[in-house]
Amino acid sequence: MRSHYCGQVTEALLDQEVNICGWVHRRRDHGGVIFLDIRDRFGIVQVVFDPDTVEAFANAEQMRSEFVIGIRGLVRRRPQGTENADMVTGKIEILGRELNILSRAKTPPFQLDDHQKVGEETRLKYRYIDLRRPEMTNNLVFRAKVSSAVRRYLESQGFLELETPILTKSTPEGARDYLVPSRTHPGQSFALPQSPQLFKQLFMMSGLDRYYQIAKCFRDEDLRADRQPEFTQIDIEASFVDEKAVMNIAEGLVKAMFQELMQIDLGHVPQMTFAEAMRRFGSDKPDLRIDMELVDVAECVIDSPFQVFAQPAKDPKGRVAALCVQDGANRLTRKDIDDLTNYVKQFGAKGLAYIKVNDLSAGRDGLQSPIVKNLSDEALHGILEKTQAKTGDLIFFGADKANVVAAALGALRIKLGHDLGRVAEGWRPLWVVDFPMFDEDDQGNLQALHHPFTSPVSVDDLKHNPAAAISRAYDFVLNGVELGGGSIRIHDSEVQQQVLALLGIQEEQAREQFGFLLDALSFGCPPHGGLALGLDRMVMLMVGAESLREVIAFPKTQTAACPLTSAPSNVSSRQLSDLGLRLK
Ligand code: AMO
Ligand code: AMP
Repeated sequence: MRSHYCGQVTEALLDQEVNICGWVHRRRDHGGVIFLDIRDRFGIVQVVFDPDTVEAFANAEQMRSEFVIGIRGLVRRRPQGTENADMVTGKIEILGRELNILSRAKTPPFQLDDHQKVGEETRLKYRYIDLRRPEMTNNLVFRAKVSSAVRRYLESQGFLELETPILTKSTPEGARDYLVPSRTHPGQSFALPQSPQLFKQLFMMSGLDRYYQIAKCFRDEDLRADRQPEFTQIDIEASFVDEKAVMNIAEGLVKAMFQELMQIDLGHVPQMTFAEAMRRFGSDKPDLRIDMELVDVAECVIDSPFQVFAQPAKDPKGRVAALCVQDGANRLTRKDIDDLTNYVKQFGAKGLAYIKVNDLSAGRDGLQSPIVKNLSDEALHGILEKTQAKTGDLIFFGADKANVVAAALGALRIKLGHDLGRVAEGWRPLWVVDFPMFDEDDQGNLQALHHPFTSPVSVDDLKHNPAAAISRAYDFVLNGVELGGGSIRIHDSEVQQQVLALLGIQEEQAREQFGFLLDALSFGCPPHGGLALGLDRMVMLMVGAESLREVIAFPKTQTAACPLTSAPSNVSSRQLSDLGLRLK
């Protein structure tokens, strides 16, 4: 049927006859001639029909957008002045001799060029049409290249691609599970894996050193632009390794992908501790392209009568930090500041104090702010010195529990970076290391910061001061996106039980949930570790997409639904009854 793909018809085929197949992208009638742009996954080519070829011309007259057709024609040079330098096929056109309609199409719900006019819901409902858009097609073609290159690279490094079950037991990665009720065990359910974590560890205990898998993971969590309920990891595990070895493997892989597929050298990847990242950037995945940092000013305000600042300054878990925005006094209006104040409230901030530095040399009189009246000359002097503010700058403040300040000012930093055009070009990779083992909530309950199978640096710390214990975890961050994370694992049954106990999982429950792991750890377990990279996120960054939905063929909506298939959907009472279930 086809001798060439549309996008591959170039000058090399001049004066030859070709057969192409594809979709009618556009039709234009021009002074008695008809132009059809025909599209397939390789691109678009222009076909011309003139009235001399009577039958083909008559068929061309019937063409509508998205009809699927086959064409036989002669490749010829476009007349001078009509070439299109932006198209690979822009120097030629095909003189159509025969046109076969292979499938007619109803008027599509949106024109491919006009996809922005319809909501995302419509694009996802007709995803098969949306994917015809060259940008979407190209994203998926690129994604396939990444997967292929990942496999080649890891196999060249001695990794084995091994599969792990999808119908399994809950693997805690901090999200809710998707459950699959069992018919043969009424009342019981499988859980879809949040990651292959425990199985890949078991592979290490089996001696299947150097595992990898491009694995589907399922997490029932609140969605954002960089989170999907079903996503893909490049999952890696190796035995007899330390963190340096795993980080080298992962870094080598990411760098090789950027080099091979984008001819980009990511260069040296620096390391930063979690503590430093939180202090300077208010985030464990700092975007180093933005040249703005948080500055601690608690010591300037600790004795101030202004309790909004003094109280968190005195609180061991509190923090008072400033973010100085260069030229902000000139660029941010009163309304902008009000909007930003509302913006930080979603991160728990109670307000957003600020000082506009109208004239640094004028002392207190040169400062415009609702809070200067509450601050002494020394306090103001200290703040200006620490933030190195200059005339024209604007200083924002966060004062609260340290985690609230980090979340609020960290997010503000990113937002201002984008709003004010202060995001530098290029790629800024980073390893974040020395994560705490646990997150502590207000009631003093501990939660695993990475996951409960992560090894502590020191078992002593775990015993004596668990809330301060540091883990052997590491995250790979690129331009403010957490691309991957992993750790050296616990390979000792007792330490594993200790960590589970600290997480409030008592022995009986631990046996019930993780008995198989605890057993396996006691039958000869090598030291091991690994990491998982988010494939979707990596492709998203590489193609410069704003959302994972641009690089996942059939993604879910914000409410974790699929408008295309209408999943999730009701099930019949028969199915429920087979499963021993009744709806509440
Ligand atoms: P973690 O939970 O950090 O670690 O996940 C690893 C990487 O997977 C990606 N990712 C996601 N991508 C899209 N949508 C999501 N909802 C989503 N959640 C995570 C991120 C993240 O860095 N088992 C451990 C890995 C290990 O310890 O080896 C794990 O799953 O890019
Ligand atoms: P108030 O004294 O509550 O009127 O607050 C004075 C200024 O401090 C206002 O600009 C508030 O937005 C700001 N503010 C209040 N609480 C906080 C806080 N916890 N952190 C930072 N700024 C705050």
